[in-house]
Amino acid sequence: MKRSTYIVGNWKMHFTANKASVFVKELIPLLKDVPVHVWIAPSFTAIEAAFLAAKESSIKVGAQNMSAFLKGAYTGEVSPEMLLEAGAHFVILGHSERRQHFNESNAMISSKVRQAVKNGIRPILCIGETLDQRKKGRAEEVLEQQIEQGLKQLSIEEIGQVLIAYEPIWAIGTGMAATPEIAEKTHHSCRLFLQAQYGEVLATKIPILYGGSVKLENTASLVSMPNIDGALIGGASLEVNVFEKIIKITEERVR
Ligand code: PGA
Repeated sequence: MKRSTYIVGNWKMHFTANKASVFVKELIPLLKDVPVHVWIAPSFTAIEAAFLAAKESSIKVGAQNMSAFLKGAYTGEVSPEMLLEAGAHFVILGHSERRQHFNESNAMISSKVRQAVKNGIRPILCIGETLDQRKKGRAEEVLEQQIEQGLKQLSIEEIGQVLIAYEPIWAIGTGMAATPEIAEKTHHSCRLFLQAQYGEVLATKIPILYGGSVKLENTASLVSMPNIDGALIGGASLEVNVFEKIIKITEERVR
């Protein structure tokens, strides 16, 4: 079975609604008939503008976070229903910046993943180890725990809706991407873990994206790996021409 390939732009806290809309309008004409799924995740306030700008194209818009609650007295939170109404198709959950700066635990992320799936929003579950954990030989164990905890509230059928993004913390925003060999080895071990936990059919189906200092120069070598089904891109997704070139390079994986 051939898995789909995804290029996802994580815009973090960079673009206003206006800028997001202009970016999308510039990107659309550059992407005629691309066989890669192109997804972008702006800030909450820019989701609707980006969605409206992307409407006539195949680009999907999503969020970078979501509440684990459906409604109620949760000041500052954004619910799945609100995201859906704004046009969100997917949501990035458990990004290491959220785990690190906002104390998101595996338990909290697990509830968010559950709410996303229940509400028809595809979750991208982010996992990643620190440099220290890798040096101590604990990377696999940490990643397996993040996967297991993140998916534990889902049925086997629901797990089929999830995408996983492997983002080693030491590679995010540092310019120091994992080598294609290290990334492939890690993706492969995550896939073996998925297979052991949920069976071969699901393990073969779930896209595992790589994230962490993906740039024009390293895209080809990363996405040519058999278990790397695309990329989650921060810095290099902020310039239309760079992002477009990364998408074009990724097309090679699909053809
Ligand atoms: P980066 O960020 O591409 O800027 O390293 C990736 C991410 O945090 O998703």
